[in-house]
Amino acid sequence: MPLEDLMWVEKYRPASLTELVDQEMIKQRLRALLQKKQQLPHLLFAGPPGSGKTTTAVILAKEILGEQWRDYTLSLNASDERGIDVVRERVKTFARYADRREGIPYRLVILDESDEMTSDGQTALRRIMEENSEHTRFILICNYSSGIIEPLQSRCAIFRFQRLDEASVTDHLKVIAKKEKLKHPGDSVFAAIYEATQGDLRQAINLLQAAAASGEVTADAVKSVSGAAAKARVAEVIAAALEGNFEAARTKMLELTRVYGVPERDFLKYANEALSSQKVADMAGAVSILAEYDYRLVQGSQPELQLTAMLAQLSALKGKGD
Ligand SMILES: Nc1ncnc2c1ncn2[C@@H]1O[C@H](COP(=O)(O)OP(=O)(O)OP(=O)(O)O)[C@@H](O)[C@H]1O
Ligand SMILES: [Mg+2]
Repeated sequence: MPLEDLMWVEKYRPASLTELVDQEMIKQRLRALLQKKQQLPHLLFAGPPGSGKTTTAVILAKEILGEQWRDYTLSLNASDERGIDVVRERVKTFARYADRREGIPYRLVILDESDEMTSDGQTALRRIMEENSEHTRFILICNYSSGIIEPLQSRCAIFRFQRLDEASVTDHLKVIAKKEKLKHPGDSVFAAIYEATQGDLRQAINLLQAAAASGEVTADAVKSVSGAAAKARVAEVIAAALEGNFEAARTKMLELTRVYGVPERDFLKYANEALSSQKVADMAGAVSILAEYDYRLVQGSQPELQLTAMLAQLSALKGKGD
């Protein structure tokens, strides 16, 4: 089996704008732009994970460059490449020559995660785009357009991808379920998947595949392979800590991270969500404790120790409050 068939997200990745689910405005505007390929501006795709940004960039490359699009497209991951100098060199080498070939109006540079570049890097990128604009077009991709410096934004046509709504996700998953001959997953299955993935279609498809791998697809199967179960357990840990029950909280936390493999950063994320849905006497105190440990985890401190210390501090709030 070819690798791309192993993963449903790849197997069912849309190959044309028509197959792209939702994002109607974007499809409409892109179709209009494709009428005049030669005049295509640089593009900026912004939006949440799993909404179709990279997929759309590849579809465009195929539409503009045809069968051999790979030869004329440079895909870079802005946050992976070691600095802007690498980007500059690679773009320069790639974009040096005009292509006289029939049907190749320009080359494409797809720069994923461009909001992860420093603002110095982005300033340099702006120059690189200008230097090479005769023979290349750039597609910048990011999660937040606010992470892109203004001069770069103003050089691009901006496309804002939306989180997919529940009906679109469910319809798409049903098509996949049918093609994979899954045994009639009920509506509760799709509701559980949407609940856990909130409009991230990549995650939704992965979750359906993971649930299918464990046998019959039920809402319970979905929940046990998704973060939903972990989320609920993290909420229990936080509740225990806030009641001043440090030992219980600590034991549960260790079980979660060691046995269930919940990543520490996820633990904090779920803890934060749990806080906002619980009645907390000293909310400000609790939130600042979480923020402090979020920072420490990013700094790469020993995670288990940090989470333990965090629970100790949360438990201590109880004593202060009453
Ligand atoms: N609008 C969509 N229509 C159909 N499938 C989609 C759509 N969006 C995402 N998918 C599915 O999710 C997978 C991942 O999508 P894609 O890589 O385009 O997301 P992305 O927006 O680039 O996300 P990220 O910000 O995480 O890179 C695709 O392979 C496809 O299976
Ligand atoms: Mg992407």
